Amino acid sequence: MYEPQHRVAPGFAVREAQDDDWPQMWSIIRDVITAQETIPYDPGMSEHDARRMWQLPAPARVVVAADDRQVLGTANMYANRQGPGNHVASGTLMVAERARGAGVGRALTTDMIDWARRSGFAAVQFNAVVDTNTAAVRLYESLGFVTLGVAPGAFRHPSQGNVGLRIMWLDL
Ligand SMILES: CC(C)(COP(=O)(O)OP(=O)(O)OC[C@H]1O[C@@H](n2cnc3c(N)ncnc32)[C@H](O)[C@@H]1OP(=O)(O)O)[C@@H](O)C(=O)NCCC(=O)NCCS
Repeated sequence: MYEPQHRVAPGFAVREAQDDDWPQMWSIIRDVITAQETIPYDPGMSEHDARRMWQLPAPARVVVAADDRQVLGTANMYANRQGPGNHVASGTLMVAERARGAGVGRALTTDMIDWARRSGFAAVQFNAVVDTNTAAVRLYESLGFVTLGVAPGAFRHPSQGNVGLRIMWLDL
């Protein structure tokens, strides 16, 4: 059963990522992608490629959730598609394992929704939420996202076999 841990003091804030945040961001990203449990990224991605993939230039936005000592989580956000699809936003977030269950993911997702709304997007779409990622599904549903559909067996989970990938949607 899920019990919030509150292992990290709640004194963190979400702010734009700075260049010197990268080593801590990379540590979070590397742990998530090598676990291969929650996000369909190449687990062998180099640090260089990860930085290019994650740190998208404006008008995309990259943030961290950090206290005065350390980065606890990071998110990026951008138009989901180009041209006639660029009125729908998307994004990705990751929280350091030691900081989970303390509200960091909720703060990053709320920040992303606020950014999308004030940037004039009509909706936020998450393209590939792993069906077994209960934390993410519950978090997004609690903020109003609905599941539009599931691509069956589209994600090879290391211990649970082939599991679905959800498309999740929030009208703004
Ligand atoms: C998904 C993730 C971002 C959640 O971040 P987090 O900081 O742990 O989440 P929060 O502490 O803000 O919790 C928000 C909500 O998520 C749900 N939740 C969080 N952890 C949970 C867990 N282990 N089991 C069930 N629900 C959970 C709860 O509904 C919680 O609401 P509450 O605050 O009312 O308890 C984090 O687990 C993570 O980075 N996972 C790896 C990468 C990933 O999955 N990214 C998202 C890809 S779609």
